[in-house]
Amino acid sequence: MNEWMTRTEALAVMAARAQQTARTTPAGFPHHADSSGAWTLSPDGDWTGGFFVAQLWLNCATGTDAEALDRATEWALRLAPRVDSPTIFRGFLFWYGVALGAQRTNDERLSELALAAARTLAADQNPHAGVIALGTAAEEAHDVGDGETNIDGVPGTVLLLDWATRHTGDESFRRVAIEHAAGHRAMCIRPDGGVIQSASFDTATGAQTRRYTHKGYTDESVWGRAQAWGLLGMTHAALIDEPEFLDTARTLADWWIDRLPSDGIARWDFDDPDPAAPIDTSATAIGSAALLKLAHLDPQNHDRYAAFATRSIDALVRDHVAPANSGGSAGMLQHGLYNKRIGLAMDDELVWGTYYLTEALMQLTGRLDTTRM
Ligand code: GLY
Repeated sequence: MNEWMTRTEALAVMAARAQQTARTTPAGFPHHADSSGAWTLSPDGDWTGGFFVAQLWLNCATGTDAEALDRATEWALRLAPRVDSPTIFRGFLFWYGVALGAQRTNDERLSELALAAARTLAADQNPHAGVIALGTAAEEAHDVGDGETNIDGVPGTVLLLDWATRHTGDESFRRVAIEHAAGHRAMCIRPDGGVIQSASFDTATGAQTRRYTHKGYTDESVWGRAQAWGLLGMTHAALIDEPEFLDTARTLADWWIDRLPSDGIARWDFDDPDPAAPIDTSATAIGSAALLKLAHLDPQNHDRYAAFATRSIDALVRDHVAPANSGGSAGMLQHGLYNKRIGLAMDDELVWGTYYLTEALMQLTGRLDTTRM
């Protein structure tokens, strides 16, 4: 346990690790890291490359450090080859990695790149189902067909398309975002507010044909990150269409609050019956960041959502961020679980978890309003 770590200290040690990685990694993108601190890189950014770049944008969100801004820009431009990659995760890559930078810098190279990605993404909408399918280059796509969706395809996509509408005035992007979120709500969210990761649909009619998981305990169980991504996705949808999505986001938030263990940290799957089931700090960070955003959107529940998120975030900082005196692991958000089914990165830093913890800490310490990020 870090007796001394404050939220500000956690932000500082995490930023130092990110800047060091950015300076010393000539190619590829941080993906996950074991306890040594060494990153396993993805050559082209996989579905996660935008999160590391987004952490660099957060690191220079409020300061005037020209070198840090240039570094973040250089990293964002590394994503350019993915602009028409057939995957729903263009949403994650280009919202977090590129559009956030376009907003920060007014650099036209970034706005053009983010807009090009939004265009290719919107063009892939299935007109019958309303959703943009997973796509052949998506992480999970190797063993499924054309009419597949993942709930984690919602959060980045919705905000990238909304940004494209704000940037161009063309409402069609936002319309696709809303239909995409509504389609996932219908297919992946159970009536009780529990979220199932994936669904299939008939590409000719849009009709749902099954619901299942790639990474959870069973097809009917609630995988920790499915709930967290669902909560974040429906909160982002509520940011752009509050009347349509606020109630859904509340239902998912209440499910999360009712089921999270008393230490505030999510287990990898809510339905694993093993009392010693491993934790996933990345699910905890995503869900907590989402709750903080929802708190701002929902004055009626603000205090409850903010208090619950704060408890989890402080537990992450206290027990799971490696402090500055821990050598190569300093600044890691430890104990994330990437994929238990295939034994991948079972107790690692996961780059998206680090991003969402950074985002939540920026909000909690009053450095930046991250509600729309
Ligand atoms: N594919 C998203 C996740 O593993 O959380």
